[in-house]
Amino acid sequence: MSADARKSMESLIEELRKKREHLKQGGGADRLAKQKEQGKFTARERIEGLVDAESFEEFGLFAQHRQSHFGMANKEVPADGVVTGAASIDGRLVHLASQDFTVLGGSAGEVHSLKVAEVMARSLKTGSPFVFINDSGGARVQEGIDSLSGYGQVFFHNVMLSGAVPQISLICGPCAGGASYSPALTDFIIQTRQAQMFITGPQVIKQVTGEQITAEALGGADSHMAHSGVIHFVAENDQDALYLCRRLLSFLPSNNLEEPPRLPSDNNVDPNPALTNAVPVEPKQGYDVRTVITGVVDQGDFLEVQAGYAMNMVVGFARILGRSIGIIANQPSVLSGAIDINASVKASRFIRFCNAFNIPLVTFVDVPGFLPGVEQEYGGIIRHGAKLLFAYSAATVPKIQVILRKSYGGAHVAMSSRDLGADCVFAWPTAEVAVMGAEGAVEIVFRKEMQDAQDKAARRAELIEKYRSAFASPYVAAGRRLVDDIIEPANTRRHLAQALEYLQTKRDQRPPKKHGLIPL
Ligand code: HXC
Repeated sequence: MSADARKSMESLIEELRKKREHLKQGGGADRLAKQKEQGKFTARERIEGLVDAESFEEFGLFAQHRQSHFGMANKEVPADGVVTGAASIDGRLVHLASQDFTVLGGSAGEVHSLKVAEVMARSLKTGSPFVFINDSGGARVQEGIDSLSGYGQVFFHNVMLSGAVPQISLICGPCAGGASYSPALTDFIIQTRQAQMFITGPQVIKQVTGEQITAEALGGADSHMAHSGVIHFVAENDQDALYLCRRLLSFLPSNNLEEPPRLPSDNNVDPNPALTNAVPVEPKQGYDVRTVITGVVDQGDFLEVQAGYAMNMVVGFARILGRSIGIIANQPSVLSGAIDINASVKASRFIRFCNAFNIPLVTFVDVPGFLPGVEQEYGGIIRHGAKLLFAYSAATVPKIQVILRKSYGGAHVAMSSRDLGADCVFAWPTAEVAVMGAEGAVEIVFRKEMQDAQDKAARRAELIEKYRSAFASPYVAAGRRLVDDIIEPANTRRHLAQALEYLQTKRDQRPPKKHGLIPL
């Protein structure tokens, strides 16, 4: 090679470096500064903060739009407003897309969305999780239906990835209109307190229905956690969202053909005496079931999912001897732990996620029944409650049930009972498995007898005790083999660890079919 040619190559490389640097500035210094003033990270900072150092490999930095309408001809749109690529998190491959609000408000033009769809396709091909960081004004208005079509591609890929690789959406800025349906199609949504998400914003709502509401009250993180149940985690800010995303991924396999990663463990299964009195013996007394969960799992470390929604049902991830498990538990301190529509939907979705990704299910039961009420019946508790029965029955991962105290009626069956395929059922000595509570049962079975009694109250108390001792104990259920073993609370961790060990090779089949029909 001649000296001239070498010089030429050097200048080409210099040109490349300059272009690369320029494009990485996104919408420019002023807009980047504005983004930071709002307490938000830039698109590239979010990726840097999420992935292992130096691991990000970008695809499509030089991508360009091909629109000429509305002043778009010759308009430079760096990376078309979205940074896409592959990286590693804790040494495991992920694919990601991060919308750049400094570039045309992160709006999704045709090329922008095709870049996102392409990185999703790579995610599927390589069996690696997909993380989409949203910060966008939605479909790029100047590009008309081309931008809609692009979003369609993203939605389609969301569905193709569903159940094959984990998909996590971070909502770190606006996520408006149809754009919110991509996160909605993913497995977990983490929303920061700086972000809002809605189909139609406050102005349109005011025009159409006359209702007045702020953007924050309509689509802020707290609203989506408490009211809509759309999101799974509230993050204080971008940094917190990135941390939550990494923590969540640590419990998950990279795809549906892998087992979840197993962390090193000291194999400690010593009894935990604090559990002995964690649950009051009196069946109506409230307590926080999370005390039991944290008393059983590794280091008391429990990542609760949707902690602020349908709080009568607690779900989340933890580990026992380093193995990931999905936990589902009734929460007696909220609605006495009764199962309502929202709790059914919340738990069913979580169960289906765990089943899709080979995460064993551990269910803690203390439930008085499905929640009675006209609102619940009109709202479709029959249809929604059935989701829970469906999800547990269809799940083929190891299923372990621990009956802590009350386990009554249809709710007993629904909460991962032996009859729905639980592999292992443990009961604490406080467990009461019955068709209903003794108080209600005597009103039905012994109504005449109580009416005829001279001392009605005394007879009632006597009959309640009779019914309770006949049915409301773990021994009757164990006698019928609905319970495998009655265990001491302090030893629960050891029993769960052993069950998870011998169930690790579980293989279970369902009849071949296109798909089952969960009652949606
Ligand atoms: C093109 C957009 C845009 C969009 C924002 N921008 N949204 N450009 N298409 N959808 C541009 C703005 O014109 C502005 O450009 C820059 O991004 C920053 O926006 P600002 O409005 O200055 O920022 P801010 O005040 O922070 O407000 C952010 C916002 C607002 C709340 C997101 O921009 C907004 O309401 N945008 C429109 C949201 C919307 O209605 N989207 C729905 C689109 S239809 P300049 O050059 O002036 O700085 C849709 C359907 C999808 O999404 C369907 C999929 C199936």
